[in-house]
Amino acid sequence: YEIDWDASAAEKGGWDSFMDKEIHEEPAAVQRTLFGRLDDEGNINLDEVRIDEHDFRAIDKIIVVACGTASYAGMVAKYAIEHWVRIPVEVELAHEFRYRDPILTPRTLVVAISQSGETMDTLMALRHAREQGSKVLAICNTQGASIPREADAVLYTHAGPEVAVASTKAFVAQITAAYILGLYLAQLKGTVFRDEIHQTLDSLKAMPQKIQQVLDTQPPRVAKAAEQLADANSFLFLGRHVGYPVALEGALKLKEIAYTFTEGFAAGELKHGPIALVDEGEPVVFIVPPARGRNILHAKVISGIEEVKARGAFIIAVAEEGDKDVERYADIIFWRPQCPTLMSPLVDVVPLQLLAMDMAKQKGYDVDKPRNLAKSVTVE
Ligand code: G6P
Repeated sequence: YEIDWDASAAEKGGWDSFMDKEIHEEPAAVQRTLFGRLDDEGNINLDEVRIDEHDFRAIDKIIVVACGTASYAGMVAKYAIEHWVRIPVEVELAHEFRYRDPILTPRTLVVAISQSGETMDTLMALRHAREQGSKVLAICNTQGASIPREADAVLYTHAGPEVAVASTKAFVAQITAAYILGLYLAQLKGTVFRDEIHQTLDSLKAMPQKIQQVLDTQPPRVAKAAEQLADANSFLFLGRHVGYPVALEGALKLKEIAYTFTEGFAAGELKHGPIALVDEGEPVVFIVPPARGRNILHAKVISGIEEVKARGAFIIAVAEEGDKDVERYADIIFWRPQCPTLMSPLVDVVPLQLLAMDMAKQKGYDVDKPRNLAKSVTVE
């Protein structure tokens, strides 16, 4: 008899798409990116970095340059790094950065985030920063690519090769790497107590298991939601604080592979414009922050939900397990295990990636190779 050998199916390791496989590799991607960053004394160790401690300590501003998904990882990192290190962090699309004469000094650290390490816009931004005398640290997933080769320092994400055009596991690994950088700077500058650094690292180390929990429990819910929503013409995504870049990323995934019109907004901006788009049945996705600790942002996001609900929107929420307020209003809920707010993007993005994938499958699209897009854009 004949064996029907399909090399591409074999590479997918039993998954029916690379995207599905790569989403399921997220716990391992975070785990591997964290691995080996702690020395015996519990200090954070960046052994792949060729900028000396003195230069790191002198850094007084960070500018993240990146494109697409990597830029949203940078936006998440901004919230954490400014909080821990108390220096300004700007996040700029790499193609805008170079042409606006940015203020760069030897004390500016430019962080170039790129999965492929070959994105031309990001590479040109890196070159511009170095010409101006700033140091560049690359957060990159591809060993030996152009961006890490030309950078002063590299923090590799060890997510493993990413094949699907839409980036998934690289995103969570990029956030992890940027957090390690933030904690390292906080340790050097003494802006966070050692205990708190260790606690934060412990929270980070607990995340792979929490992502796994989402992957073990939420896919059937997401698949059902995708079925229900497959005919929707447009979606709004709303979030606050670190939930804002997650909303942008969720919106990007859905447009990239399901070709659905989506827009991501900061939830507080709703009343300043986007609410005009809300009509009967409009799907609106909310990233709801944890309610614990009387989190003021939680109440604010809930009031945003009430506003759009009153106008007939169909509410999809990503929320913490047991969130009663969300249960009251949302039509569909994707549950997040308890975790600190700053860690929540690592889990919250997962159901949104799955939703985009399932919607694309519903519509019969190739989720790994969306039309008009390239995995790495090597032209400016
Ligand atoms: C392309 C891909 C996106 C990716 C972006 C940045 O547009 O389609 O998925 O986020 O490039 O890629 P990089 O390799 O620099 O992270």
